[in-house]
Amino acid sequence: MEKRKDYIIEIFKKNRALLKGPDWETMPPHEDWESDQQKGIEEPPPQKAYPKDAPIIDLISRNHFSSRDFPTTVLDAISNRRSRRNFSESPLTRKELSFLLYATQGIRKVGPDERHGQKRAVRRTVPSGGSRHPFETYLVIQQVEGVSPGIYRYLAFEEQLLFVKSIEDASIAETLSKLTFSQSFVGKSAVLFIWTVIPYRTEWRYSILSYKDILIEAGHVCQNLYLACEAINAGTCAILAYDQKGFDEFIDVNGEEEFTVYIAPVGKQK
Ligand SMILES: Cc1cc2nc3c(=O)[nH]c(=O)nc-3n(C[C@H](O)[C@H](O)[C@H](O)COP(=O)(O)O)c2cc1C
Repeated sequence: MEKRKDYIIEIFKKNRALLKGPDWETMPPHEDWESDQQKGIEEPPPQKAYPKDAPIIDLISRNHFSSRDFPTTVLDAISNRRSRRNFSESPLTRKELSFLLYATQGIRKVGPDERHGQKRAVRRTVPSGGSRHPFETYLVIQQVEGVSPGIYRYLAFEEQLLFVKSIEDASIAETLSKLTFSQSFVGKSAVLFIWTVIPYRTEWRYSILSYKDILIEAGHVCQNLYLACEAINAGTCAILAYDQKGFDEFIDVNGEEEFTVYIAPVGKQK
């Protein structure tokens, strides 16, 4: 194997360290990275705030769908799952979109968490280290029955969609293709899921130990999307090849306190 330049070897080492647990021998003294929770600083909100007069669309509540609506078995969803890049032009129904959102970030329960001394811990349909759930879900909607094309954000507590901004219908497929380095199937999706992270939600408890945790959690979210898609005759494909700055600007997040971590186009199977 060809010997690499020393500074590149250092970058490999530094980046591989993210995949490992902490090396307690070389960690800085704990008092220097004590978490904000340990310092008694108030917990950040579990969902990003929004203007109370913002346009809102109601989703179908979890209470109004059951396994009769989605009869595919877990065994079939797991066995059929694959990355799907060919979407039909059929729209998703609002109920189907509601199900996908519930499957990926829906709220199961809000209640006490004795292990972490919290009165109101949020439990969702996916696991999260310490139940911190650092993600927000944005959608680029092109084909959902009864929903105008545009960018929206999932309000999991309210079971609603927050309208973020409209998109120029004519150029959206091209824009999404450009933002994913010419992966044109992304622009042909009925809905594009864009997950952002607000790292402070996890850092508040885990401080400098947060990052491996966050990346693993993003995988849990997307896997639920894959499986839920199989249950509605739709498909998705995890996408990591995307333009970071371009997506952050596209959905109006600041790229520091909140930024895109993962995206996944969804459409009905052909
Ligand atoms: C983290 C991650 C990133 C990926 N990024 C892309 C991508 O940018 N473009 C793409 O077409 N597929 C992407 N994929 C999908 C993989 O190519 C796919 O999972 C792999 O080929 C195996 O196929 P399967 O999912 O059908 O089993 C990604 C998958 C993962 C888990």
